[in-house]
Amino acid sequence: SVVILDFGSQFTRLITRRFRELGAYSVILPGTAPLERILQERPQGIVLSGGPSSVYDDRAPRPAPGVLDLDVPILGVCYGMQYLAQQAGGDVKRAGKREYGKADLTRYGGQLFAGIQGEFVAWMSHSDSVTRLPQGYEVVAETEDTPVTAIENAQTRRYGVQFHPEVVHTPKGGQLLANFLEICGVTRDWTAEHIIDELVEDVRTQVGSGKVLLAISGGVDSSTLGLLLARAVGEQLTAVFIDHGLLRLGEREQVEAALRPLGVNLITVDARAEFMGALDGVSDPEQKRKIIGREFIRAFEREARGLGHFDFLAQGTLYPDVIESAGGQHGDKSGAANIKSHHNVGGLPDDLNFKLVEPFRTLFKDEVREIARLLGLPEHIRMRHPFPGPGLAIRCLGAISEEKMDILRRVDDIFISGLREFGLYDGCSQALAILTPIQSVGVMGDERTYSYTAALRAVTTDDFMTAEWARLPYEFLATMSNRIVNQVHEINRVVYDITGKPPATIEWE
Ligand code: XMP
Repeated sequence: SVVILDFGSQFTRLITRRFRELGAYSVILPGTAPLERILQERPQGIVLSGGPSSVYDDRAPRPAPGVLDLDVPILGVCYGMQYLAQQAGGDVKRAGKREYGKADLTRYGGQLFAGIQGEFVAWMSHSDSVTRLPQGYEVVAETEDTPVTAIENAQTRRYGVQFHPEVVHTPKGGQLLANFLEICGVTRDWTAEHIIDELVEDVRTQVGSGKVLLAISGGVDSSTLGLLLARAVGEQLTAVFIDHGLLRLGEREQVEAALRPLGVNLITVDARAEFMGALDGVSDPEQKRKIIGREFIRAFEREARGLGHFDFLAQGTLYPDVIESAGGQHGDKSGAANIKSHHNVGGLPDDLNFKLVEPFRTLFKDEVREIARLLGLPEHIRMRHPFPGPGLAIRCLGAISEEKMDILRRVDDIFISGLREFGLYDGCSQALAILTPIQSVGVMGDERTYSYTAALRAVTTDDFMTAEWARLPYEFLATMSNRIVNQVHEINRVVYDITGKPPATIEWE
């Protein structure tokens, strides 16, 4: 394995992700983890991550004594490289200005860059730089602003890069990390099946003989989690699907049909009346989200009490959710602004007696999809676009009602089925229909109409943090518009959202 010592960089998880993509097993430990703990992992290589600290700060986190003496290759990234250089007798100084963003390597070579050709764009984020090279090291890459951008000591197998090879903005970073694995002699046979075994093992250790309650939303994450937990703890799991009345057409039935045959002990709760009651007359988007989050928790508590004692609440939280909802709830230091309160992470009352089980906290969506495939989740759920916890409520602008939900459900179904029918579904990252409160004049047959406007939105994105509107064919949009106004009489106008994120968000509320 490769042990990654984390010194607080927001990109540390990406290093494991890249290694996983390369088929190598790695594990993240706190930067200051004791030597014995590190040795337990039988490391064949060590990565010292980046971090916000400066190596000449007394309080800067440091690896335990002995780590640098281990006879395995060590790669220092950013702060990690500065630490390596300083410990070997080099100098690190505050650069005149912070270097942030893409930089071209003006030259590169050495073992880490073996086999890499052409332009090398490196993503930088640092204010300290190595200013004097330690003994035994040589500079193997430089940029215009940073003469010491990568260093290596081939004898002791110590390597350092000032940039972040793990982020997508360093396109050839994966090759560099692959070279490091090669130097470490790590076999690259780590697959999603191994990840499943590991997750199952972790869940069993955490849960013991406790009882687990899982909220199933119908999306790929919680459904996959249901399958994983069923495999890990079987009968100790009760999965609860709350029908809050904000679901898409036929969704509840689809989820039941997918999970029950695969051994998930699934209970469906009809809480439509409670949610509708609580949302009655509420038009503020954040307010709606908060109410839905709160009602979710209430419904679970109610259900849990009815079913006896539960020790754990399982959640399909993914790594990107953890970043976007930051605010330090789980000790993440990314400091990303909280744009919308995602209720699957926040919102749990303090007096809740459950402990959390969140096996996917370190995973990304595509990894969960791969796990889902291996666990047998049907394709239509596995490859489903994400659907927000608050459901159609945040796609029906302003105060919602049964009637409006029903209109929106039908519009959504026409649009989503249409995308599938025309083979456009998988090309979009997410597609949605929005019911606006705008009423406008139209003419149908010979009659004047005064009805609602529906908006369609489809986006492409890698990470949902930024997105482009999908360039759907005009012909397709025309067909959708026709179908919608013909089949949903409450709608007489259809518009397509041509705004990216930013400045807009994907959801309208
Ligand atoms: P926005 O609208 O912020 O959406 O651009 C980004 C992604 O997050 C989803 N989303 C949510 N998911 N609970 C969720 O589980 C929420 O409250 C929530 N709000 C937005 C949205 O569907 C998109 O995929």
